[in-house]
Amino acid sequence: MADLQRTFVAVKPDGVQRGLVGEVISRFEKRGLKLIGMKMLHVSKSMAETHYGEHKGKPFYDGLVNYITLSPIVAMVWQGKDAVLLARNAIGATNPGAAAPGTIRGDLAVEIGRNIVHGSDSPESAEREIKIFFQDSELLPDWKRTHQNWISE
Ligand code: RTP
Ligand code: MG
Repeated sequence: MADLQRTFVAVKPDGVQRGLVGEVISRFEKRGLKLIGMKMLHVSKSMAETHYGEHKGKPFYDGLVNYITLSPIVAMVWQGKDAVLLARNAIGATNPGAAAPGTIRGDLAVEIGRNIVHGSDSPESAEREIKIFFQDSELLPDWKRTHQNWISE
């Protein structure tokens, strides 16, 4: 039986600037994941450093922190069976040049430094990242979707 999970997804500044917020949301909605939280915000440098702490010291770290703080992002939490893996697969490989057609990055992006969207890489990362961007009171994990029985048995 697959796990009910939550994952953190963000449309990065380039995705917002290019008008791709709806496109990204639409893909997750159509797949059958359930949206349980969403907000638009301008990420501060300290939030960016916390979120991307695992990459500190890597050559692309400063550019990455700069990129995510350039202009607003749209932060979301999606819930569903195997949500972390489903979202990662829908997003595609980190480098859009290697991302399969049909994935968000494979269809809509060309460069690793402008790859439109973030998705948590594990359930543990998801819980850590969700806490950076959302308070518990901002999440609605229990709302009932009337067609849920047509997505999951
Ligand atoms: P994300 O965290 O954004 O969902 O991406 P990811 O898991 O696919 O990739 P990750 O290794 O976590 O890298 C985070 C972001 O850093 C930028 N990056 N640039 N120039 C480079 O070699 C390089 N490597 C990574 C990308 O924006 C990547 O999404
Ligand atoms: Mg990552």
